[in-house]
Amino acid sequence: MPRRHTAFVNILVTAGPTREPLDPVRFISNRSSGKMGYEMAAAFAHAGHTVLLVSGPTALDVPDHVDFLPVETAAEMYEAVANHLGRMEVAVFAAAVADYTATAAPQKIKKSTDTFTLELVKTRDILGSARTTLGFAGTLIGFAAETENLEANAREKLTRKGCNLIIANDVSKSGIGFDSDQNEVIMVHPDHTEALPLASKHDLAHQLVQAILEIHFSASFLKTSN
Ligand code: CTP
Repeated sequence: MPRRHTAFVNILVTAGPTREPLDPVRFISNRSSGKMGYEMAAAFAHAGHTVLLVSGPTALDVPDHVDFLPVETAAEMYEAVANHLGRMEVAVFAAAVADYTATAAPQKIKKSTDTFTLELVKTRDILGSARTTLGFAGTLIGFAAETENLEANAREKLTRKGCNLIIANDVSKSGIGFDSDQNEVIMVHPDHTEALPLASKHDLAHQLVQAILEIHFSASFLKTSN
């Protein structure tokens, strides 16, 4: 029987893709629809919590009762998170942040050569900076989209990024994950792994939100009872 939580907390959710401009008309992005993050933001708000949704460009409506901060690039998402993380108790990083960005040309790039090489530079890892550079001490949740070794890769990210939970899915399976209304994930905790069966992103978001609040409130209980 799920425990009822009486305290309301501040929760930051990142969602959607980022867009890294190449010139005034082109950008690099990815297939993230933002649905999983938006559903989770909506489910936290529905449970009475105060939610800030930091989102890259998506086609989705902003959920009711959710504060919204739209961003475009990975650098803008980093700044938005850095500005707000200090007042959050829970942070959920569902965004598919670009790992590399380009220096955007000021004018449209012309097709003057037969081949064209782009030099890309690594972006800052926002989730990976939360515990270190940004000093976040709250409940930290990451996502991992993998095409192989799902659990092992997710567990490595859990440790490397200092997370309390990684929600991982296999993006090589068709019909789930990116651009789909359904998803099938595993929850990788520090001491065990739990598989959630295929479900709509809406239903899954409610299960994940419940699990995250359990983690958050049992950690808070441990801190206050010590
Ligand atoms: N993430 C982030 N900032 C980045 C890259 C990733 O905040 N610049 C977050 C994502 O929101 C997600 C988690 O890190 O919660 C894992 O993202 P993923 O792209 O799977 O991991 P990477 O660390 O980029 O590792 P790799 O791409 O090498 O698998």
